[in-house]
Amino acid sequence: RRTLFAVAIVSCFGLAACGQKSAQQSASPSDGSAPAAAAEAKEIIVGSDASYRPFEYQNDQKEVVGFDVEVLTAAAQKSGLKVKFVNTPWEGIFQALQNGDRDILASAITITEERRKSMDFSDPYFDARQLIAVGKGVTNVKSFDDLKDKKVAVQTGTTGDEVVQKLLGKTSPNIKRFESMPLALKELENGGVQAAVGDNGVVVNYVQNNPGNGIVTVEDTKSFVAEQYGFAVKKGNQALLDKVNSGLKAIKADGTYDNIYKKYFGSK
Ligand code: ARG
Repeated sequence: RRTLFAVAIVSCFGLAACGQKSAQQSASPSDGSAPAAAAEAKEIIVGSDASYRPFEYQNDQKEVVGFDVEVLTAAAQKSGLKVKFVNTPWEGIFQALQNGDRDILASAITITEERRKSMDFSDPYFDARQLIAVGKGVTNVKSFDDLKDKKVAVQTGTTGDEVVQKLLGKTSPNIKRFESMPLALKELENGGVQAAVGDNGVVVNYVQNNPGNGIVTVEDTKSFVAEQYGFAVKKGNQALLDKVNSGLKAIKADGTYDNIYKKYFGSK
């Protein structure tokens, strides 16, 4: 016993900063696998373009909050995942998933066949549709077709952008593209365009929060298809996707989802 103890001390002194070294080793075993406890606690980094009230936006403390944040946080909790939301501009959001800077995207992202080619989506968690916003004094817009000869603002690379491209042509100078939806709607407010097209929840929220600017909304359920939001993970990350989906199922079953929905949108 004595001898063994002495050997241990000696070999420890033999290594520089022995205590530190062994602490490091226990934090990450040499075979490269993370120890079980650390794997459990590993934070999942979630990217959200936090300029999309009420789905994801920054509160006064600059924290990313909103409907998507609460839904994903609740679902993640059911599956034992710890999530951290990081504001991520829409422009680079898919790239950030692709290169591993973000593990999940929660950004009111419409599930589309095109996007499915480069990422995987969770089960849908919200129904949406495009909505037209028309500026003060613009009275001749009753349907989407009426935007044919108008200047229209959209957020670049969104489903709103896609649908307006179909009407006006991809390279039409009448499409004004913006980095964020609030910037597109500001342009409408300032009279730089006659209309804007974007996700209904966000457009309605903007109109409600900015009264007196004369912006009104025009629905067109014939021209705009039903859209569904999903959380995106890197293509092939089935383990994480399964956890998100089982969490989503659980919060839909136990009323948590409905409570969050009511908090943001009132009753269905
Ligand atoms: N639902 C639309 C899309 O997927 C717009 C999403 C924009 N989201 C955001 N947080 N800016 O194209």
